[in-house]
Amino acid sequence: MKVARTIAETRSALEDVRDGPIGLVPTMGGLHEGHLSLLRAAREECDTVVMSLFVNPAQFGDEHDLASYPRDEERDLALARDAGVDLVFAPSTEEMYPAGFQTWVEVTEVGSRLEGAFRPGHFRGVATVVLKLFSVVRPDRAYFGQKDAQQVAVIRQMIRDLALDVDLRVLPTVRDGDGLALSSRNALLTTEERKRALALPRALATKDLTAARALLARSNGLDVDYVEVAEFDPPVLAGAVRVGSVRLIDNVVLEGDSK
Ligand code: PAJ
Repeated sequence: MKVARTIAETRSALEDVRDGPIGLVPTMGGLHEGHLSLLRAAREECDTVVMSLFVNPAQFGDEHDLASYPRDEERDLALARDAGVDLVFAPSTEEMYPAGFQTWVEVTEVGSRLEGAFRPGHFRGVATVVLKLFSVVRPDRAYFGQKDAQQVAVIRQMIRDLALDVDLRVLPTVRDGDGLALSSRNALLTTEERKRALALPRALATKDLTAARALLARSNGLDVDYVEVAEFDPPVLAGAVRVGSVRLIDNVVLEGDSK
């Protein structure tokens, strides 16, 4: 497995493998089974698997959230190697956002609701970095998790609007045995907070907006940002809560398969 720190290195490493499909799995590290399921799908479907590892400051509104985001590059690289990744693109912030950077991608409608309303600028940061990753890697397929359903909707819209030549692959949400959706931020929860956080997946599992809101209203020790039905493709019941200093999002698919 090769680790590239620069755009130039990444492009030259991929120069000779363009005859077969290249899969890209964008991540911010803190790898867990959710990320690994994306890497496995990419490994199955592509000749070359690229994982990006970049904690993207542009998608964090809150300095504290950015500073406390779990970072363990050595562990992430070992897990990526085990998952059969061929190339990890792990750039510095300066490599992605050089001095004078001023071009931003804004998916105006899809990106302004729900998460976008609570985290202004978040999806602008996501869309911009993902477009840049697409431009650096030029993948045939890019892999994303249904866990971040609105992120998928934003990227799908960007691909369509900008006629990007990449196949979007979306994999189901991976959960712990107790139902909590895996998230790098779960590592920041105390045992007590984690118990309280379980109210979110339990509420969403009703697949009923009124029931979910009622369940969350009765739960102690957690602040609800929103619970809404979102008409994404597929439609989801989505929610966001704050438990202590940790913000968690989750969703369940309302029709179609059981993503
Ligand atoms: P990150 O939170 O590291 O997630 C990377 C990918 O893993 C995303 O596509 C996310 O939806 C997926 N993922 C996370 N938890 C999952 C779970 N429990 N089950 C299935 N998939 C899961 O999402 C980002 O990073 C960033 O916004 C990024 C796209 C890398 C842009 O910076």
